Amino acid sequence: MNPVLNEPDSPFDLALRPADFEEFHGQTKVKDQLMVMVEAAKMRNEPLDHVLLCGPPGLGKTTLANLIASAMGTRLHTTSGPQIERAGDLAGILTNLAERDLMFIDEIHRLHPSIEEYLYPAIEDFRLDIIIDQGPKARTIRIDLPPFTLVGATTRAGMLTAPMRSRFGIPNRLDYYTVEELQHILIRSARLMNVPIEPGGAHEIARRSRGTPRIANHLLRWVRDYAQVKAQSIVTQDVASKALIMRDIDEDGLDEMDKRVLEALVHKFDGGPVGLNSIAVAVGEDTSTLEDVHEPYLVMMGYVKRTPRGRVAMPSAYRKLGLVPPHTGQAELF
Ligand SMILES: Nc1ncnc2c1ncn2[C@@H]1O[C@H](COP(=O)(O)OP(=O)(O)O)[C@@H](O)[C@H]1O
Ligand SMILES: [Mg+2]
Repeated sequence: MNPVLNEPDSPFDLALRPADFEEFHGQTKVKDQLMVMVEAAKMRNEPLDHVLLCGPPGLGKTTLANLIASAMGTRLHTTSGPQIERAGDLAGILTNLAERDLMFIDEIHRLHPSIEEYLYPAIEDFRLDIIIDQGPKARTIRIDLPPFTLVGATTRAGMLTAPMRSRFGIPNRLDYYTVEELQHILIRSARLMNVPIEPGGAHEIARRSRGTPRIANHLLRWVRDYAQVKAQSIVTQDVASKALIMRDIDEDGLDEMDKRVLEALVHKFDGGPVGLNSIAVAVGEDTSTLEDVHEPYLVMMGYVKRTPRGRVAMPSAYRKLGLVPPHTGQAELF
């Protein structure tokens, strides 16, 4: 999978992470809703309702969780679905919460079903029933918890169990950013990194960033190095373009795996329709990564369509690979 999207938050990511809602650009709908919820909870002096954040990696889920905590003036306790292996792990976190604190569970769709069972009463009634011992000696102890807020993040809302989904209000879905939004984010990042950048330079990086702020910031880092060595440090459009071509960054932001998916679809499967599992085998990537990371972007860009019978390559996918799309090809003959 794309290494930038896969890596944990580096000190570099942390330095560029917006510190308040004002600095968080884009995702207006989600942001405005969260700000209203936070304001209302503060006015009522109550903990915030539980929040679910969904969307592909690198779009700002973890950032938003941090922003909610700072706007609430509370602490954020971070964990992830796969990290909680036993009920004891969960109890350890829950019993450390202060009133109105946030518990952030990243990849909440990967929470073990037995842990989910413990979590439900905790988030509904703020109590934890732990079974200790086994067989005839087994007994339950009840721990009362302070009222707190669960913030769940997931790349795959569809994989959440129905009971889990029903515990949250309306899910907050993050979408890929527009080029203009990413340009704005890049100009802010460049300022923080002390990189002189022209609007055209930021635009050039933005359109190759796969709609993703995390990728945009990483590309900026490379372009900064290039500009320093080759162009007296100033990131103009021309400099950005040359720097990104040198690294084989696609004009539309497609990464290696995105391209392999298109190639497989067109060459191996004749444009589809074909199931995601078959594509996964052909490109050597696991199905869930294709579904979380690659498919949403390819669909958003109009290269691939999801149909009931499988995935289909659209004419632009053929053009991307330098081929004539089958239908256009025929039209051109007449
Ligand atoms: N709206 C935004 N404005 C500015 N920077 C952002 C925004 N969203 C994300 N970022 C940057 O992108 C990086 C990745 O965001 P993150 O919250 O870790 O994504 P996710 O948790 O969805 O994978 C952050 O470190 C931050 O620097
Ligand atoms: Mg995250």
